Amino acid sequence: MTAHNGPSSRAENDNPWQQSPVFIGTTKFTRVPTINNILITGGAGFIASWLVRHLALQYPDYNVICFDKLDYCASFNNIAYVNANCRNFKFVKGDITNPGEVEMVLREQKIDTIMHLAAMSHVDLSFGGDSYEFTSVNVYGTHVLLEAAKTYGKITRFIHVSTDEVYGEVLEEDTDLLESAILAPTNPYAATKAAADMLVNAYYRSFKLPVIIVRCNNVYGPHQFPEKIIPKFICLLAGSRKCLIHGNGSNSRRYLFAGDAVDALDTILHKGAIGQIYNIGTTDEVSNRELCVLLLMEFGYGEGEFDQHVEYTNDRPFNDRRYAIDASRLKSLGWSQKTRFEVGISRTIAWYRRFGSLWWGDISDILTAFPTSRHIHYRTVMDGNPTHNDVA
Ligand SMILES: NC(=O)c1ccc[n+]([C@@H]2O[C@H](COP(=O)([O-])OP(=O)(O)OC[C@H]3O[C@@H](n4cnc5c(N)ncnc54)[C@H](O)[C@@H]3O)[C@@H](O)[C@H]2O)c1
Repeated sequence: MTAHNGPSSRAENDNPWQQSPVFIGTTKFTRVPTINNILITGGAGFIASWLVRHLALQYPDYNVICFDKLDYCASFNNIAYVNANCRNFKFVKGDITNPGEVEMVLREQKIDTIMHLAAMSHVDLSFGGDSYEFTSVNVYGTHVLLEAAKTYGKITRFIHVSTDEVYGEVLEEDTDLLESAILAPTNPYAATKAAADMLVNAYYRSFKLPVIIVRCNNVYGPHQFPEKIIPKFICLLAGSRKCLIHGNGSNSRRYLFAGDAVDALDTILHKGAIGQIYNIGTTDEVSNRELCVLLLMEFGYGEGEFDQHVEYTNDRPFNDRRYAIDASRLKSLGWSQKTRFEVGISRTIAWYRRFGSLWWGDISDILTAFPTSRHIHYRTVMDGNPTHNDVA
């Protein structure tokens, strides 16, 4: 585990983050006295890096500590701006499955608040050779954090970030699910997240650990590693390659812009009730096929050119038709969605066209229908992202 200020002396051209807009959310609440030192796990990943930047910049009185092992999907570019400019930010390289490292960061950084986002997050990988890694990070890693927080005894908020996928699929005729719905995950990723939710709840009931669980729809926006469908299809189209649709493309997902997801997490941090579960949801829903049509339009292609730019591949072993959650409880705290899908997707496309090939190094091998452990271990070991070496 290392705690330091990260890279500083690169030529500007090697640092794409210096040209990128600094994306954060819009919310800003009155300071809460029991929040001082916030540990964000997985802070160099997609959603958590939006949160890191948002909290460090909107709340100069809070200290934000990013704890991340810099796995294949992370990028130091995601947090380089706050690392270079915010005195209230610190990066600590560490692994949530290592109890010694977790105990040390809690103690040394005097942590009072944990926002837990570190995870193996890609469903497709969970079907393949890396299935055990999902149990290790998502279940055991969460257990390590909970146990360390319990033993340490000074945590006033432990916000666990989970997913809509723990509820399983929701058919078209079903109503949107409330937080009380039964958990019925259908893929290994979702099952490990549901198991983690159970552990979090058990630590609340058994040890009164002050937990909050949040379950979120799909999130998209700049900074997402291009293994997930939206950035993957944008990067494929930008490289004049075909979008690769699993199955017949009729499965749909609801998508929330990262800025709105971060506003939701900020709202829950400041106004959420301990012991509560909050869905973070939108009704912006598109099928994978509709998503392709939209992206092709944004790239200036007509619908008649669909077949030239899209290829259908094998489907997932099981592919939930859709997810649909009811976010009324979160809305009652004052949160509302600000960025509709049409607006967010244009911003996202613009960012990936400018930075997609610079941010993570060479990602061409990831842009397959089903990336495997071979692809991600190659990235972890031989990593094309030069910034990883600076912080190892
Ligand atoms: N992306 C989505 O659409 C979405 C939707 C709902 C919920 N979530 C949840 O939100 C969280 C963040 O998702 P994301 O897509 O932004 O993730 P991501 O895959 O972009 O980032 C995960 C981060 O966790 C870090 N990490 C992985 N294993 C670690 C370990 N053992 N120790 C320390 N750090 C480790 C990685 O280095 C990376 O920075 C996850 O818990 C995910 O389940 C994501």
